Amino acid sequence: MTDYSPTPADKFSFGLWTIGFRGRDPFGEATRAELDPVEAVHKLAELGAWGITFHDDDLVPFGSADAERTRIISRFRAALDETGIVVPMVTTNLFSHPVFKDGALTANDRDVRRFALRKVLRNVELAAELGAKTFVAWGGREGAETDAAKDVRVALDRYKEGIDLVCEYIRDRGHDLRLALEPKPNEPRGDILLPTVGHALAFIERLEHPEMVGVNPEVGHEQMAGLNFVQGIGQALWAGKLFHIDLNGQHGIKYDQDLRFGAGDVKNAFFLVDLLESAGYDGPRHFDFKPPRTEDYDGVWASAAGCMRNYLILKERAAAFRADPRVKEAIEASRVNELATPTLTSGETAADLLADDKFDVEAAAARGMHYERLDQLALDHLMGVPAR
Ligand code: GCO
Ligand code: MN
Ligand code: MN
Repeated sequence: MTDYSPTPADKFSFGLWTIGFRGRDPFGEATRAELDPVEAVHKLAELGAWGITFHDDDLVPFGSADAERTRIISRFRAALDETGIVVPMVTTNLFSHPVFKDGALTANDRDVRRFALRKVLRNVELAAELGAKTFVAWGGREGAETDAAKDVRVALDRYKEGIDLVCEYIRDRGHDLRLALEPKPNEPRGDILLPTVGHALAFIERLEHPEMVGVNPEVGHEQMAGLNFVQGIGQALWAGKLFHIDLNGQHGIKYDQDLRFGAGDVKNAFFLVDLLESAGYDGPRHFDFKPPRTEDYDGVWASAAGCMRNYLILKERAAAFRADPRVKEAIEASRVNELATPTLTSGETAADLLADDKFDVEAAAARGMHYERLDQLALDHLMGVPAR
């Protein structure tokens, strides 16, 4: 790797709502004009991206008549065919329209829940039609501002009912589509249901078709909750549930910043790329960021290119870290690989373990773990300091 130029083999994808973000925030109006989805596809192809994703309403404005919907989709499809850009994931907007102000699948109002499910099922058909393999469900409005508003146990019953129905529908229709739940602790709701990767993983195990459902963790969302994203991804991989990932940047516990990937906690980003690459994760590297409203479209494309560039730089740095003989030695000294040895020898029983009296407690307690040296080597590589 020399100039960090992405190619489709890198599997970089972008949400249409990311590069198409017009800069509207709670305090100010849009600072950029609307982006034509067809132009987005062409521009992403030019930059070396592989895929584009969208919410139903990003592509086809809410309430469009059927003929208009068909026209928009065929125009979009033509751009995909022309450029080779794929649609690996589709998601449903269940948060913008005022009808979803109290949630969608968990709205107290039953008619709203039924409407939300019809919107999702219709979008499942579009996802399948465009060849998407992952269907993301981000429940941004599933939550409350007061604990008096929502019985969480009952809300989770309705959440499960909704997700189960979508799985049933996908099975009945014979689509090759898996669901990925995206956790977020808050924003836009005061508190959102399934706030972290851990909550989502526990929820999935209680579904009727847990094998069809995984997670779509977002860097900034776990960091908004003060959590270590790398650790969350480690557990999602361990559970076989990392179906998709939203890469971006965040500076600690505050509002959802959605910075470009690499901005924010760059050390966590380094260990994240190290983990994804070494664990053999082969899904999309999907960027869910919001180019700041200070930028014009030149800035938007610079920001999108920066996401991919940072991933490739970190990938190169992580590989150099792993290949460095000093690192191998430090890993040895820190006994990192010893953790892979089962605690009991095969065939050993609890009685055998109880009878083991050879351990020197004081010697083990006195032994240093040498993690600081190992961590400094990681920082050296991250900061581009050559071995000497
Ligand atoms: C956020 C979320 C959203 C979702 C997207 C998918 O930043 O709050 O990441 O961008 O990923 O809406 O449904
Ligand atoms: Mn976000
Ligand atoms: Mn996201």
